[in-house]
Amino acid sequence: MEKKPEPVDVSTAFALEAASAARNRLYSAVLKRKKSAAALAHLLTAIADSEETHTRRILMHMRGKLGEPQKHIEMLTRSKYEAYARQYPQIADRLEKSGSKTAAEAFEQFGEVAKNHYDLLIAVTGGKSATPTDYFVCGVCGYIATGEAPAKCPVCGAVTSKFRLVA
Ligand SMILES: [Fe+2]
Repeated sequence: MEKKPEPVDVSTAFALEAASAARNRLYSAVLKRKKSAAALAHLLTAIADSEETHTRRILMHMRGKLGEPQKHIEMLTRSKYEAYARQYPQIADRLEKSGSKTAAEAFEQFGEVAKNHYDLLIAVTGGKSATPTDYFVCGVCGYIATGEAPAKCPVCGAVTSKFRLVA
């Protein structure tokens, strides 16, 4: 009997293409400031566009290969817990020690927002919040408020106008 081929996980390729596109956009912006590097800056923008085309095609491929949503939700909940309980505080601590105070503050906020996501996931999957509600996302830190936009973001202090309603 012929051995069944191993399933191919293309999500790594998606992550690599998406990260490369983002990096190329950043370097393109840096090079655009140097007039002598205009051609290279423009090429990096084209490569970023191209890589984003790849990410869209990979997503289309992934859409047809998705597993059970329940497994994704379990993995997502675990990863949010890890992010707020360990990963982001550790990254923030290392950044603080290396003198990158602004980046450290950003990762502290990312950790708080990961806990926000975790708490929302637990509330919905645990049945405490089974009816869809209005979500408002902070455009500065990503915090998700429920019901209405707060006067001030509890994570970054952004004002109400920085929140957008999720369609
Ligand atoms: Fe915020």
